[in-house]
Amino acid sequence: MPKPPSQAQLSEGTKTFSATKKMPSDSEDFMWGVSVSSYQYENPDVRKGEADYFETDWDYFVEEGKAPRKGNALDSWTHFDKDLAALKKIGAKFYRFNVSWARVEPRPGVFNETAIRGYVRMARQLKEAGIEPIVCLWHFTFPGWLYDKKNPVRSNWLHPEVQEYWEGYLDKIIPAMAPYTKYFAPQNEPNGQITTAYLVGQWPPGILLSTKRYWQAIEASTTMYNEAARKVHELVPGGKVIAIVALPWWERSVLDVTGYFYRSLLHTNYDHLDRVVASTDMIGINYYYSQVVGVFAYATLNSRRGNHYSMMGWRINPDGLYKQIQTISARYGKPMLITENGVATRKDEKRIEYMNSHLKAIARALRDGYDVRGYLTWSLADNYEWHYGYDATFGLSHMEPETLDRKLKLSAYWYRDIMEKYSSRAAFKKFGSGAKAH
Ligand code: BGC
Repeated sequence: MPKPPSQAQLSEGTKTFSATKKMPSDSEDFMWGVSVSSYQYENPDVRKGEADYFETDWDYFVEEGKAPRKGNALDSWTHFDKDLAALKKIGAKFYRFNVSWARVEPRPGVFNETAIRGYVRMARQLKEAGIEPIVCLWHFTFPGWLYDKKNPVRSNWLHPEVQEYWEGYLDKIIPAMAPYTKYFAPQNEPNGQITTAYLVGQWPPGILLSTKRYWQAIEASTTMYNEAARKVHELVPGGKVIAIVALPWWERSVLDVTGYFYRSLLHTNYDHLDRVVASTDMIGINYYYSQVVGVFAYATLNSRRGNHYSMMGWRINPDGLYKQIQTISARYGKPMLITENGVATRKDEKRIEYMNSHLKAIARALRDGYDVRGYLTWSLADNYEWHYGYDATFGLSHMEPETLDRKLKLSAYWYRDIMEKYSSRAAFKKFGSGAKAH
């Protein structure tokens, strides 16, 4: 194994996390698949006034004109069959989706049993199709009743009763999903969401530069994560818990003389994970880009275009993924799964090139002895991309408006062939090395 990254690459006060390392055998299958999220795909399928009507904090943000309208997205709630058909065509082995807390608990303490059955059915149908579900319990949005419009600070992670309600939700959803679910991810990128919500001020509750609120949110979310992990381990025989984290590769700018800004951004990568790693079986790396930490880079973000950037101005850097794998391995010593990786582009060849180069970086990491268990790409279809609305297209397919069919792009067929040809770890290790796969 090559030398781990220097301490300087890790955040201040680096802790040592010990773990018993048992590498999987090369004959095991690599965990190939696709990631999606409920809010970005599902239609609400309820009207105001109906008993099960629900809203989320993000819907309020949309109403206030702070984010683009979502509408019915990909109609995935009523037409999961369309997603499933696409998954089968692509040959995905794993599918990561999430349960919408707002949908299953439309009012405090009141559960929508039909909605719960809907999610259970999804997991069962996936299993029947030979696709292993990875179920996330929170992907950015909160039930609207945890949002205090008059006093947004007392919302979401900082709602006085959030932890109590979260427990009630866990007690309901974990046993319900358990018969068809082995892999649970309590939260998707809490670190990224908390940074965007309490420091950048761009996501609900839209608070700018409050380190006090940031730390309060980290405290609440990590307590809630650990509670979810405990319940999964207790209630699901053989259950595995994945900590999914947003892990951009930050680079230090020469103008950042003291390194203050760089270190601050490293904190946003690891503050959450440091506090939950002990109850975690696998670390889920969401990696998209690398970024020089500095005012100039941020100011020019939206105008950056060309081969080295996505249509959102994110810098394409597969080597950043390799380094991130090294860093996470050195810091935590736990198995890793790439839980999101993909590119917003209208040029599908660019998507293939992006995936190809990032897969090469992962295969190299495998050859170098790092314990990466699988790869899930973002995403199955072009979807609602938060404050970018429908403009940023990450999909292996797009939805045909009339039939709602997911029309596969070339990248989907390319990915299908890769998953088939490199299905085992042994085969995938050779990817991009010049050696034959079989
Ligand atoms: C999120 C997804 C999002 C993707 C691309 C990740 O941060 O988990 O919801 O669509 O990045 O921006």
